Amino acid sequence: MGIFTARESVVRSYCRAWPTVFDRAEGSWLHDTGGRAYLDFFAGAGALNYGHNNPALKQALLDYLAGDRVIHSLDMYTVAKREFLTAFDELILQPRQLDYRVQFPGPGGANAVEAALKLARKVSGRTDVISFTDAFHGMTLGALSVTGSPFHRGGAGIPLAHATSMPFDHALGGQIPDFLWLERLLENRGDGPDKPAAVIVETVQGEGGIRVARSEWLRGLAGACQRHGILLIVDDVQMGCGRTGPFFSFETVGITPDIVCLSKSIGGFGLPLALTLIRPDLDIWEPGEHNGTFRGVNPALVTGTAALRTYWQDDVLQRGTLAKGHRVAAALAALAESVPGTPIEPRGRGLAHCLAFECGELAGKISTAAFERGLLVETAGPQGEAVKLLPPLTITEAELGQGLELLADAVRSVC
Ligand SMILES: Cc1ncc(COP(=O)(O)O)c(C=O)c1O
Repeated sequence: MGIFTARESVVRSYCRAWPTVFDRAEGSWLHDTGGRAYLDFFAGAGALNYGHNNPALKQALLDYLAGDRVIHSLDMYTVAKREFLTAFDELILQPRQLDYRVQFPGPGGANAVEAALKLARKVSGRTDVISFTDAFHGMTLGALSVTGSPFHRGGAGIPLAHATSMPFDHALGGQIPDFLWLERLLENRGDGPDKPAAVIVETVQGEGGIRVARSEWLRGLAGACQRHGILLIVDDVQMGCGRTGPFFSFETVGITPDIVCLSKSIGGFGLPLALTLIRPDLDIWEPGEHNGTFRGVNPALVTGTAALRTYWQDDVLQRGTLAKGHRVAAALAALAESVPGTPIEPRGRGLAHCLAFECGELAGKISTAAFERGLLVETAGPQGEAVKLLPPLTITEAELGQGLELLADAVRSVC
């Protein structure tokens, strides 16, 4: 591992929690060079909802490569992009009666967020954006300005301006009515920041420690935005593409965002791809006003199309995710109860779950103990206090059971 420590920047982080060299991967498994197998309850932080090297997606990619098809093309028209947009329109937007223009920003989630924030400011002519406590939207300066973590914000090196953080659902423990502060601010009585351009929200905060907003809270937020003419941006980078069950995490909530950010699993195979979905009347960019060299990466469009055609023609994946999610929730509740003396709060929705502890030290030890047992689970939350479970949606029941047992063993060994 010497070359990593000698040459790679000290900013590297996941490799510190999992100090081994990974090589092969298939389905829910990663293998290191020593021949050890690890059950992956991390799934590329949500970029591998369909597992590693999914055969249907891999075949589409291999066929594309074998045919010497276009790999790089900025935002030129390609067959790969046409097929992706057609599948996305037919299988995702139309059945949900959603009408969005699709912008291909740069390939990461933060690129989708940057485009959303810039467009909201351009459309409204206003500068400020409201975000939420413990939110995570990415590391570029705009995305970082609406991200909560002081640790990450500290890396900016300049003041992060034009963003105001408000309490996420449950943050004030129900002691203050939801949106009292927001409504007060929007009444514009001269006692708050300027009227915002947009609100950006995750329906379930992933990096924030699997904090699930209630549907009524999200509807209340959408209502306030609508009443006051503020754009609602849902960042579905981590919770979209079926992670909570339905394709979009907001579908079952009864809200229609003005702008949606997608990335991570939209490319299907772990290849970089991001989309910013825009309400058609808001699509007022000048051609090329927001651009980038790596947009609509064709191999990712090919695997993204294969993922849509394989998993979103029917509701089999969605039902499977919800059923597996119920199983995980029950197992975590039982596990939390079985460890008296250690307060543990299980939280989750769909196949995004966590065990939240009182401090990060305990969660870190459990993640390490899980790694030693052959299970990859990361920690999340402001203090790293949540052991986060994000298995591939395609995980088998047997693998899910095995991973839950390894986790229970890790928790008991530490607590
Ligand atoms: C909700 C959310 N938005 C944005 C991002 C940033 O995505 P990326 O790391 O691809 O820039 C993440 C990454 O974890 C995320 O969870």
